[in-house]
Amino acid sequence: MKRVAIFGSGGQLGVELKAVFTARGYELACFERAKVDITDPAQVEHALAQYDPAVVVNAAAYNQVDVAEREPLAALQVNGLAVRNLAIACRQVDAQLVHFSTDYVFDGQAGHAYTEQDATRPLGAYAVSKLVGELYARGYLDKALVIRTSGVYGPGGLDTARGNFVEMMLRLAAKGSPIRVVEDHVASPTYAPALASRTVDLVERGIDGIVHLGGGAPISWFDWAVKIFKAANVNPPVKPTNEREFRTAARRPKYSALSNGKAESLGIAPMPTLDEAIRLYMEARSKKLAPAPV
Ligand SMILES: NC(=O)c1ccc[n+]([C@@H]2O[C@H](COP(=O)([O-])OP(=O)(O)OC[C@H]3O[C@@H](n4cnc5c(N)ncnc54)[C@H](OP(=O)(O)O)[C@@H]3O)[C@@H](O)[C@H]2O)c1
Repeated sequence: MKRVAIFGSGGQLGVELKAVFTARGYELACFERAKVDITDPAQVEHALAQYDPAVVVNAAAYNQVDVAEREPLAALQVNGLAVRNLAIACRQVDAQLVHFSTDYVFDGQAGHAYTEQDATRPLGAYAVSKLVGELYARGYLDKALVIRTSGVYGPGGLDTARGNFVEMMLRLAAKGSPIRVVEDHVASPTYAPALASRTVDLVERGIDGIVHLGGGAPISWFDWAVKIFKAANVNPPVKPTNEREFRTAARRPKYSALSNGKAESLGIAPMPTLDEAIRLYMEARSKKLAPAPV
């Protein structure tokens, strides 16, 4: 069985990747930020030289889209230059790099769910940094796999400082104050466990290049919030807003849904529907939040 190293294994996608690789019997080395900071080339090189994996999965990222406008260098270091560190270290041990990128590499003007053939045009510092990471991964390595995804949410988000959109909505709902969510931005919210299992499927099929794995269905953030509240059985006062009213530091693509057509043509199972995925999330969330048995 192939040896796999995971960086960023404490993030909401990282924990799911760890679970899937473990369940499928892989030998794993998991590096959380406290163990290996991927911006340090010596730490990355040392970790990979010691473990000598066949596959290196990078689930680490700087994901603060708006904060990145104040500190573009911090985003570039983690999402761009650190991927160069990983790519160089992968070359040294002849490992395949599996790296995650984002729907935000697009400008949202295409008018259709983005395919791997569509031209990139990132609109902000976070998005530029993620595109730089893609370029390093694919420029330094012939067989890198770059998976672009969108609006990731998984039960791991309950444990991370950053959380996810579902948790943010549920926190706002618990406060009881009116909630405004943009209705003029559309993405493909992606359930982390489903993304993780399909990532491992791609690795097992020996796929490289760019592959999109979004949630499989375009939805506005407002409609997504409404679905979340329904699944959580709560009824807070939620109203639609738009990007003119709700200004953010970073520009975001208006329509960044991803087409999973290529992944499906490679034999990867379609994503669960949004309703099914949010039901699974709520189920996993309740289990996680249940008091431990005494
Ligand atoms: N979340 C989304 O909505 C979304 C959307 C599109 C694409 N993506 C991409 O999907 C992938 C997984 O994202 P996610 O949602 O799992 O993110 P996440 O929950 O924020 O996890 C990212 C992990 O990376 C770690 N990390 C940050 N800087 C690091 C460094 N210098 N060295 C080592 N580890 C570091 C973080 O550690 P700390 O907690 O200690 O900071 C965290 O554990 C990323 O490539 C992301 O860009 C995510």
